[in-house]
Amino acid sequence: MEPVIGDDADWTTEALGIELASLSSAPLAQRLYRALRTWIQEGRLVSGQRLPSSRRLAQELSLGRNTVLAAIDQLIAEGFLESRPGAGTFIADVAFETTASQSGKTSPPLGQTTVGEAELSSRGVQLLEFCATLDNRFGAFAPGVPALDRFPFELWQRLLRRHLHATPTQWLDYQAQGGVPALREALCDYLRLSRSVRCRPEQILIVQGAQQGFELLARMLGDVGDRVWVEEPGYNGAQACFSAAGFDVEPVPVDAEGMSVERAPVGGVSPRLIHVTPSHQYPSGVTMSLARRLALLEVAEHHRAWIVEDDYDSEFRYGQRPIAALQGLVDGARVIYVGTFSKVLYPGLRLGYLVLPEPLVLPFRRANARLHREGQYSLQAALAEFIAQGHFSRHVRRMRDCYRQRQARLRKALAPAVARGLTLSEGQAGMHLVAWLDDLETERTLVARAVEQDITLSPLSRYYLRQPGRPGLVLGYAGAREDEIERAGSWLAGEWLALSGA
Ligand SMILES: Cc1ncc(COP(=O)(O)O)c(C=O)c1O
Repeated sequence: MEPVIGDDADWTTEALGIELASLSSAPLAQRLYRALRTWIQEGRLVSGQRLPSSRRLAQELSLGRNTVLAAIDQLIAEGFLESRPGAGTFIADVAFETTASQSGKTSPPLGQTTVGEAELSSRGVQLLEFCATLDNRFGAFAPGVPALDRFPFELWQRLLRRHLHATPTQWLDYQAQGGVPALREALCDYLRLSRSVRCRPEQILIVQGAQQGFELLARMLGDVGDRVWVEEPGYNGAQACFSAAGFDVEPVPVDAEGMSVERAPVGGVSPRLIHVTPSHQYPSGVTMSLARRLALLEVAEHHRAWIVEDDYDSEFRYGQRPIAALQGLVDGARVIYVGTFSKVLYPGLRLGYLVLPEPLVLPFRRANARLHREGQYSLQAALAEFIAQGHFSRHVRRMRDCYRQRQARLRKALAPAVARGLTLSEGQAGMHLVAWLDDLETERTLVARAVEQDITLSPLSRYYLRQPGRPGLVLGYAGAREDEIERAGSWLAGEWLALSGA
């Protein structure tokens, strides 16, 4: 069936209405004729599209039918439209010189036009420095991507359908409850049991992913010019939020025990926020030691700073005993726990949460409802059921096995290089390994060659704010099939061996 202008694109009739309402002394039939002719010439109406019937146009544009017919007849006579008896009136197949931007169909790809830096705010320009790795990437070795092929979509869709169907009318309105109570309760049970987080369901605020949580934290707890400590190397998603909020982002080195707080700048400005990934440091993969955790809590207390505990992928531990969250270590600690469903389910879901100390709960709820608006309550209700019925823990268990196997496959593929001195991170947890390299030149060469192979290699040096960073590669293995991992891993081993002359 031909596309119909006006049935699936009522905007055309509306746009004609606007055109006709514009100030002009020309008769209505002339104005309608000119508008349609111009749109056809510009490619806004394309050949083969069916025009709404003259009756409908007359009715919706409040014109006499004869006025509409006069305009259409003229366009038919000039070859812009053609009448097909019994089928309707169609845009004729005539070739016109259309400019790309007029038609909107062949506009140049984004990025080819530039905006002068002067047109962006200085924060905007700074933010772009954190956006180097924003492209959508799949397969080996895109970091942070879960096994999307293993997500139980049929079951999930059934739950979604059911909850969409049963959406209470009040959920269609603006919300400010901090999220669906059933989800906050299910999460609270899960966090208390599996992560030793100290919380009540009321303390949980559901947000659209950890990223929105960082945004909110930055807005609510710091002012422009305030200092935030971040891990070096670290997660540039959180750093981007802090930078965009106008913070002074101070990298603090990470060693084998996590953020090395004793190496943070002494004296001078106190941090307002300290962002850490203690369970599984991103990207180095180390776990913060107990001594460091206690030192960090003490430092935060001393500076009256808030620790932002980013617990993004702690569900995936292999062999090691689960490590309790920093948030639960000491009663009344100055910690805000940030969780996400991006790794454990899928990133496009855009659901995450904050566990807030009680005094911050209502201010954050109100600010979030004002700044970002709550919503997606049916989706949240479906997720609550997904957790309550045990599908969530089953999925985590399955993914743990899957990722363990995928990591083993990667290690096997890289074994020839490892035998000759390539060093890999321990991989006791998470969804990626780090391969440490000796020099930045090797890192650069491998990253460039991988592009030709359609393999994503993330340079470790890019995770450092102070350049030059340590050279290496962040190898995400969770989101790629075993055969892809095998192929990409063998390729990498071969290239590394060739480059190192081993
Ligand atoms: C360290 C870290 N924290 C948090 C996230 C999750 O962010 P979000 O919930 O916004 O998808 C990621 C995702 O890559 C991450 O690597």
